[in-house]
Amino acid sequence: MSEKVQPNLRALTVQLDIAGEPGKSSFEFAQLVTSAGLNIAATVGGKREKPHPRHFVGVGKLGEIYQLVLDMCADVVLFDHALTPGQERHLRDRLKVPVLDRSGLILDIFSQRARSFEGRLQVELAQLKHLSVRLIRGWTHLERQKGGIGLRGPGETQLETDRRLIAQRIKQVRHKLDRVRSQREQGRRARHRSGLPTVSVVGYTNAGKSTLFNALTKTNVYVADQLFATLDPTFRRLSLPNGAPCVLTDTVGFIQDLPHELIEAFQATLLETREADVLLHVVDVSDDNKEHRMLEVNRILGQIGADKIPQVVVYNKIDMLGSQPRVDVSKDNQIFYVWLSAAQPCGLDLLLDALQQILSYDRVLGLLRLKPEEFHVRAQLYQWNAVQDETLSEDGSVELYLDISQSAWGKLIKKYPHLEKRVWEDRSESIELAAL
Ligand code: GTP
Repeated sequence: MSEKVQPNLRALTVQLDIAGEPGKSSFEFAQLVTSAGLNIAATVGGKREKPHPRHFVGVGKLGEIYQLVLDMCADVVLFDHALTPGQERHLRDRLKVPVLDRSGLILDIFSQRARSFEGRLQVELAQLKHLSVRLIRGWTHLERQKGGIGLRGPGETQLETDRRLIAQRIKQVRHKLDRVRSQREQGRRARHRSGLPTVSVVGYTNAGKSTLFNALTKTNVYVADQLFATLDPTFRRLSLPNGAPCVLTDTVGFIQDLPHELIEAFQATLLETREADVLLHVVDVSDDNKEHRMLEVNRILGQIGADKIPQVVVYNKIDMLGSQPRVDVSKDNQIFYVWLSAAQPCGLDLLLDALQQILSYDRVLGLLRLKPEEFHVRAQLYQWNAVQDETLSEDGSVELYLDISQSAWGKLIKKYPHLEKRVWEDRSESIELAAL
C-alpha cells in the first residue's frame, strides 16, 4: 500500500552517497519534504557501494535509523532514492512507520496540489500505477470507491481482489481522462483559432513562475513558497507595450529526477508548452545551482519537443543580489536575458519589451484591400489586433495596413488559399481578396 502522508508529521530523511549515482541536493530534498507539509526531525547520511537488495541501507544503518525513529518520535521515513516495492515493504516492516521513496513523496505533493479535475485524475492515475507494483494486503481505499458491492470474486485472495480493483479503477480513470482531454483539446483549438501568440512560463520549481505570472497579469493564481504550487496550466491575456495581445500560460515546475510516470501524468501542461510561440524560462538567480538547473529544464524541454521554441531567460529574484534590472542579448540576437524581480516587482517593462521584440520576428506586414462584402475578414483581423491603419475608398472598399503574426496569417490563408500567391512582404503591394 502506498502511504498517504499527513501534514505536520515529523519526518526522518535518508540520503546516501551511492557510488556511481549523481550527487544529491539536501536542500532540494528538504524543500520537497516541506512542500509535502512535513517537518524534518533528522537526516541520516552515509556511503554505500551499491544499495542493499533487501532494505537499501546496510543492517547497521538500518538499526541506526530505527533508533532515531524512536528517539525523534518520527512519524515517517523518507528516502531520497528510488526504492523497489520489496525494499519499501521490508523497511516498513522493520521500522514500524510508513516509508516513502522520492517518487512516492513527489506523487503525494502532486495529489495535495492538483486543482483541476483533469489534474486530479492525472495524479490519481499516476498513483494507481505506482501502487499497482507495490500492492500488499489490507488496502481498502478502492473498496470505498466501489461502494463495497460484489467486492471479491469467487476464490480470490485479498491481494488478487486488490489487483483487480486497481485495474478497474485505472480503466475508469483513463476513460474519464479521455473525456476531459477531448474537452480541453476543444478549448485549446479555440485559443489557437484566436490567432494570438502564446507565451509559456517555464522553469525549475520555486524559481518564481507564478509570482511572475501574477505580476505580469495582475491576477491571482495560487502562489505558495512550496514546490509545485502550480499543477495546471493557467491562461491569461496579456497586452504588450504596443497594445498587441498575447496569451500567457503558467506551467508546472520542472524538477530533477522527475519520475517518468509523472512526466506522463503532466502531459497536459507539457503539451501546452510545446505549442507556445515563446518560452519565458524563469531562473532563480540567487540559486547556486542555477546553471545545472537551466540545463535540466532545457533537457526536459528537449524530451517533449519544445527545445526549438525561442526563449527569453528571466533571471528572477535580483533583489536577493542587490542588482538592478537589465537586459543582455546573445551575440546572434536570438536569446534575451532579462534580470528582474517578480516579487518587488521591477524590470517587468524590460521583459515586455523583449517579448514584443521576439514576437515581432515572427510577423508579416502588408496591405490588404477588401470590398464591402468582404468585411467579415476585416472584423476577424480587428479581433486579432492585426490592423495598424486603414483608409476608406470612394467605392466603399477599404485598405488595411496589417501587422499580423505568422501563425495567424497562416490560418487566414488556410481558409482563403488564393491569398497565398499574393506578395506580402512588400508594403507597396496591394492585396485584394477577390472571392471570399
Ligand atoms: P512552483 O509552482 O513550485 O513551480 O514554483 P514557482 O516557480 O511558481 O514559484 P513561486 O512563484 O511560487 O515562488 C516561489 C517563492 O519565491 C515564493 O516564496 C515567492 O514569494 C518567491 N519569489 C518569487 N519571485 C521573487 C523575487 O523576485 N524575489 C524574491 N526575493 N522572492 C521571490
